[in-house]
Amino acid sequence: MRPRKTPETLRSHRWFGPDDLRSFGHRSRTKQMGYGTEDFAGKPVIGIFNTWSDLATCHTHLRERAQEVKRGVWQAGGFPVEIPVTSLSEMFMKPTSMMYRNLVAMEVEEMLRCHPLDGVVLMGGCDKTTPALLMGAITMDLPSVYLPAGAMVRGCWRGTVLGSGSDVWKYWDERRAGRLDCDGWAELEDGIARSPGTCMTMGTAATMMSVAEAMGMTLPGASDIPAVHAAHARMATGCGRRIVEMVWEDLKPSDVLSRESFENAITAFMALGGSTNAMVHIVAMARRAGVELVLEDFDRISRRTPLIANLRPAGKYLMEHFHDAGGLRAVLERIRPLLHADVLTVSGKTLGENIEGAEVFDEDVILKPEAPLAAEGGTFILRGNLCPRGAVIKPAAADPRLLKHTGPALVFDAYPDLKAAIDRDDLEVTADTVLVLRNAGPVGGPGMPEWGMLPIPKKLLKAGVRDMVRLSDARMSGTSYGTCVLHIAPESAEGGPLGLVRTGDLIELDVPGRTLNLLVGEEELAERRAAWRAPVERYARGYGRLFLDEITQADEGCDFRFLAGREPTPEPDIF
Ligand code: FES
Repeated sequence: MRPRKTPETLRSHRWFGPDDLRSFGHRSRTKQMGYGTEDFAGKPVIGIFNTWSDLATCHTHLRERAQEVKRGVWQAGGFPVEIPVTSLSEMFMKPTSMMYRNLVAMEVEEMLRCHPLDGVVLMGGCDKTTPALLMGAITMDLPSVYLPAGAMVRGCWRGTVLGSGSDVWKYWDERRAGRLDCDGWAELEDGIARSPGTCMTMGTAATMMSVAEAMGMTLPGASDIPAVHAAHARMATGCGRRIVEMVWEDLKPSDVLSRESFENAITAFMALGGSTNAMVHIVAMARRAGVELVLEDFDRISRRTPLIANLRPAGKYLMEHFHDAGGLRAVLERIRPLLHADVLTVSGKTLGENIEGAEVFDEDVILKPEAPLAAEGGTFILRGNLCPRGAVIKPAAADPRLLKHTGPALVFDAYPDLKAAIDRDDLEVTADTVLVLRNAGPVGGPGMPEWGMLPIPKKLLKAGVRDMVRLSDARMSGTSYGTCVLHIAPESAEGGPLGLVRTGDLIELDVPGRTLNLLVGEEELAERRAAWRAPVERYARGYGRLFLDEITQADEGCDFRFLAGREPTPEPDIF
C-alpha cells in the first residue's frame, strides 16, 4: 500500500512551500496570473500537456478540452496549469512525424522534470503523439493519465461512407487508372475529413489510443469516444478529477505498467487488427518501463488472439460505429480469458474491473471470438535470410492469394526513384513481381517513413491489378492495406540483407510459415556483401545528426540509445 501524499510531501511543495527567496518568486508570479494563495497553496499542481496546434488538424478541439480538464482539476481540489508541448502532425510533418516522436518524448520528460508539477493529463492522439507523450511520462514516472483525442466522425462522398486513409489510397488508384474524374476527386477532398479528431479507421492513431487504454493508462472507455461527442468533454473533466486523486494516492506509471500490462496491450492490438506501427511504439514504451519485449512476444500473442473488431482497413466499419457497438471495453470483455485482468490501471481499479459488464450492441462490428474476422491476430512476424531480425505483415489487410508467393524482385534504391518509374508504361513488371524499396528504414529514410504501401505500377492498375507483394524497411500507415512486408530489420542502410537484393532475384514469401527468403546462394550473397557500400547520410549537423547517431532499429522500438534505461535522473535543484 502506497502512503498517501500530504500537502507537505507534494513535489510542488519544494517550489511553493518554503519560506525563502525562490519560493517567494514562485508564489508572487503565480499571483501575477490572478490567482490567490487559496487557489494553489497545498494543492496538487496538475500539468495539462496540450498538443494543440493549427497544423495538428486532428487536435483542433484540444483547446476546449484543456478547459474541461481544468474544470475537473478545480472540482477535485487541484491547481491546473496548461502547458503546450510539440504536436506531431501526421499530415504535415516531413519527412515523417516519426523523426520527431523521440524529440517530443524528451520534451515531455523534461517539461515534467523542470516544472513544479505533481501530476499530468496528457492530451493527444494523432499517430506518434500517443507514444511520445507516454514514453516521456513513463520515464519521468509522475502520476499521469492519458486523454485520447478521439477519432473524427465518418466521412461521406456521394452517399458512400469514407474512411480516413484507406479510401484515399483506394480512390487515388481509381484516379490513376482513369476511372475517377477531377470533380469526383475534389468532392472526395471535401468529404473525407469532416470534424476534429484523428483518422477514424483502425489506423495508427486509433490503435495507439486503444493500446494506451489496454495497458492501463486511460480511464475506462476513453479510447473510442469520438472527438466531438459530448461524452468526450465529460471524459476530459473526469481525467481532471481523477489525476488529482492519483497524486494523493501517489499512483505512478511504474505502479500500473508491467510485462502483463504490455501483454494486454499487444492482445488488444491483435484483436483489433491494429496498425503495424504499434509494434515499434509498444516496444519503445515497454523499454521505457523496464520491460523487454521481443518480436516473438508479438508472434506468440498473435497466434492465440482472434481478430474480432470488424474495422477498416482489415474490416468494414469505422470508429464511430465501434464506439456505438460497445467499443474497446466490449472487445476486451469478449477476450477476457486472454488478458491479465488483475493488473492495476490509472482508474485505481484493475483492468478486469474496468471492463466488467461491457456489452456488445452490434454483433457485426464486434464479432464473437468463435466467428472472428481472422482466427489469428492482425499482425504476423516473419523471419528468414532477408530479415534476420524480423519483419512484419498484416495478412488481414492483404489479398489471400499472395500470402504464399514467389516472384522476381524489382528493386528501387530510393523512394524518388520509385516515384519516377512507377507510372511508366515501359516498366518491366508483372502482377507476379515483388516490388522492393530499400533505404527507407530508421537511418535510411530517415525515420522509417510510411512508404511501405508501395504504389501499384500504373500499367498494372489499368489491367485491374489491385495488390502485389511489396517489401521494404519502411513503415506503412495504419490506414493502408495490401500484401506489404514492412520493418525489415536490420535495415538496408545499416548493412541488412535487403541491401543485397538485385532486380530479377527470386523472393519467397510464406506468411502461414512466417518466412521471407531471398533465393540466392550464400556464396553469391557473400560477394555482394563485400561490395556493398553504405548510402551517403543526409544530415551532417543538428537534430538530424543526433537522430542518425542514436536511433535504434525497428525491433528495438526506434528509441534513442541515450534515452534507454531506468537509471533515475536527479530532480532539479531549487536554489
Ligand atoms: Fe492525425 Fe491520421 S492524420 S490521426
